[in-house]
Amino acid sequence: MAGSVFRDLVVGVDNEIALPGGGAAVSINLDNAATTPPFVDALNEIINFAPMYSSVNRGAGYKSQLSTEWYERSRKAVADFVKADLEHDVVIYVKNTTEAINKLSYRLYDGKKGVILSTGMEHHSNDLPWRKYHLDYVETDNHGRLDLGDLVKKLKKYGRSVKLVTVTGASNVTGYVNPVHEIAETAHRFNAKILVDGAQLVPHAELDMKPFNSPRHIDYLAFSGHKMYAPFGAGVLIGPEATFKKGIPEYAGGGTVKTVTRKKVIWDDPPNKDEAGTPNVMGVLGLQAAIQTLSRIRMRNIADYELELWKYAVERLRDIPGLTLHCDTHPGKPRIGIIPFNLDGIHHALVADILSREAGIAVRSGCFCAQPYVRRLLSVTPGETVIRRRNYRSSGPGMVRVSFGLYNDRNEINVLIQTLRRVAEHREYYTQKYGTR
Ligand code: ALA
Repeated sequence: MAGSVFRDLVVGVDNEIALPGGGAAVSINLDNAATTPPFVDALNEIINFAPMYSSVNRGAGYKSQLSTEWYERSRKAVADFVKADLEHDVVIYVKNTTEAINKLSYRLYDGKKGVILSTGMEHHSNDLPWRKYHLDYVETDNHGRLDLGDLVKKLKKYGRSVKLVTVTGASNVTGYVNPVHEIAETAHRFNAKILVDGAQLVPHAELDMKPFNSPRHIDYLAFSGHKMYAPFGAGVLIGPEATFKKGIPEYAGGGTVKTVTRKKVIWDDPPNKDEAGTPNVMGVLGLQAAIQTLSRIRMRNIADYELELWKYAVERLRDIPGLTLHCDTHPGKPRIGIIPFNLDGIHHALVADILSREAGIAVRSGCFCAQPYVRRLLSVTPGETVIRRRNYRSSGPGMVRVSFGLYNDRNEINVLIQTLRRVAEHREYYTQKYGTR
């Protein structure tokens, strides 16, 4: 099947865009790891609700009551999607995964006590927020997969001082899916908790947080609406209510308190305490609608379909002269549909630019906000700043990244392959044409 049966679910996939050299092309978005276009249903939900929109948790009017009810009810839909248990857990709405992880990092912080174990394959958002702690990293192997032996080694080394193991569900660079339940079980054996950064995994595969009494339970989970077809500014942090009952929120203000005097503040219960200011009702309703659409299709079908796209593309990319793939292509290893690569002799940013200018194809190039991991995959030292640089304005190590969404199809991959092949076979021509501006 060349086309995607999910194509009609998404806004703007077949629109034409102008090419800088003249003419037009149907846009091809292969940059879904950065952000996805909206679902039609998510957009409609917002438009349909708009006439009833009003303030949440702070108004007596009918519309305000209705907005509050819908906003609060959405927490259950979000929890059910990842099998969180609202008897113990709380669903906190934030802007995105970055804000979610920062929030948790502040809430768990108690003056640098304890160790956080992150990993060598995280994007910056699951690394930098933890640097106020004693932070160490679980290493990756030569293919860039997580070294679970090193996890055990580090847990043994730090013993009970490890507060949290924080790991991505799937890498935004290589697409590798981590065995998060196995990691949870290992962390729990050492009395540590686990945070799964679900930004890349939750939109592309099933994730079950599992019951609280299971050793494989995920303690904390973060993900973003804008990577799951609801780019309206809502993201999610889920974790035990007990974590958020303690301490003071990093943002304080309207909606976060029960009582305020000049001398005293009594904070409200979570999640209110952690959602300062007027909540993003429209964003949350869009996210809920996206979750409904994803659930209707079933995450397993999405994962299978995107893996088929990945296999189809990898088989063809392999035949392009001078193209190096920067991930393992083992058929049995769990992954999502991401492919990092370089074309010999052409800077990664130039390749991305040519794809856009010649064929209207959107990809991302560079380090994808994961510099340490990309450097490791490229065997580049932090001091080395230029790789395969040839007469092009951009510098720095990096790769080109293709990342699939459920609406992409084989026709789009065929255009990508044809364009890359043309570029690979006429390197000098394209480097001259675009590289000397
Ligand atoms: N982490 C996002 C990406 O991979 C921003 O593009």
